[in-house]
Amino acid sequence: MIRMESVTKRYPDGTVAVDRLSLEIPDRSITVLVGPSGCGKTTTLRMINRMVEPTEGTIRLDGADLQGQPLTTLRRSMGYVIQNAGLFQHRTIIDNIATVPRMIGWGRQKSRERAAELMERVGLDASLGKRYPYQLSGGQQQRVGVARALAADPPVLLMDEPFSAVDPVVRKGLQDELLRIQDELGKTIVFVTHDIDEAIKLGTMVAVMRTGGRLAQFAPPAELLSNPADDFVEDFLGADRGIRRLSFFPSAGLELTTGPVVRVDATTEQLTAPDLPYLLVTDADGRPLGWAEPRDLTAGDIAVEGLLSYGRPFVPGTDSLRAALDCAVLSPTGWAVAVDADGRVTGVVSQQTIGEAIRTAHGTGEPAAPQSTAPQSTAPQSGGAQAGDGQPSGSAGVTKVGP
Ligand SMILES: Nc1ncnc2c1ncn2[C@@H]1O[C@H](COP(=O)(O)OP(=O)(O)OP(=O)(O)O)[C@@H](O)[C@H]1O
Ligand SMILES: [Mg+2]
Repeated sequence: MIRMESVTKRYPDGTVAVDRLSLEIPDRSITVLVGPSGCGKTTTLRMINRMVEPTEGTIRLDGADLQGQPLTTLRRSMGYVIQNAGLFQHRTIIDNIATVPRMIGWGRQKSRERAAELMERVGLDASLGKRYPYQLSGGQQQRVGVARALAADPPVLLMDEPFSAVDPVVRKGLQDELLRIQDELGKTIVFVTHDIDEAIKLGTMVAVMRTGGRLAQFAPPAELLSNPADDFVEDFLGADRGIRRLSFFPSAGLELTTGPVVRVDATTEQLTAPDLPYLLVTDADGRPLGWAEPRDLTAGDIAVEGLLSYGRPFVPGTDSLRAALDCAVLSPTGWAVAVDADGRVTGVVSQQTIGEAIRTAHGTGEPAAPQSTAPQSTAPQSGGAQAGDGQPSGSAGVTKVGP
């Protein structure tokens, strides 16, 4: 664990970049430092690998004061990734990644093998190894930067706005990749960004800093969203705090109903029996085709062209309550369509049921799993599916479900 105890950095010109900062950075998770430009994020990060020395206070790594540790050992235990990757322009990709292994005396062959292995890990095609950095896209270069930092397998990764220079789509890919790598490798990552959404997506813990190098709040993202410490943090979090917090609640507990679901070859009886204003038609495999009013459907010969869009379905267990709500809001009937991993319909759920689950989630601060007793005859839009007593399900605590 990295522990900062009342750390202050005053630069020679008198600028106080970091002011009595105390932080406990947990092992094997991502801690994000976020805050406006000039609030001391980079300075804080650089004090961890001693590129910058604190003026006051102590930083400990696994209990030992960093001051007592040889710089070379320290730096080797900490990979460092910066914006624009900071690659050596005159070296090939393979040689860039192999830099540290070569430096610490691994043979040429072993270093290159390691580099090739890392290219695969960060999602780079092996054929790019012979290229030079200028022959790669920004996103690819950033992946090389991550691979290079991981090359000597350091327990700690320090990342300073590593994804800021790429477009939003590539950035999302890099973020997902980092989460995947973190899942596999379990590094202790300190990640700097000024983008609060990136912080919320990546962070296990998020330190919000304010100008003057002061800590405003240090909390898991779900807690930041539900309980911002003050106006500064609330402002910094931006709009839609409540909606965004729903990302931390699973949709798995939502009670689904199959009442309105019919197959494309449904009989007259199957079309009329449910007595509902809308039915969801699926193909013979159970994949959604669209909504329709029963009177517009011809038994045995449903015209697929005439169906209303079913919007985007959600996957209970994978997607969050936010995703489920989004599906319901976008659905022409107000009902969200749930599918399994293969895209087959497992049921539908009304806005009202989702609303009940949201109230439960906000109320308890825990993932909601309403024990619904949705009557099969309940019509879409009349929204009769009840959320029941809204008992939270077995799993306690707030977990990140999906972006
Ligand atoms: N070498 C230096 N000498 C004097 N002041 C410095 C030095 N480096 C940084 N500063 C000042 O310290 C403060 C914090 O800088 P720092 O680079 O840590 O901020 P930051 O949060 O990383 O900002 P950004 O988001 O713009 O990268 C700023 O006011 C900056 O001008
Ligand atoms: Mg910076």
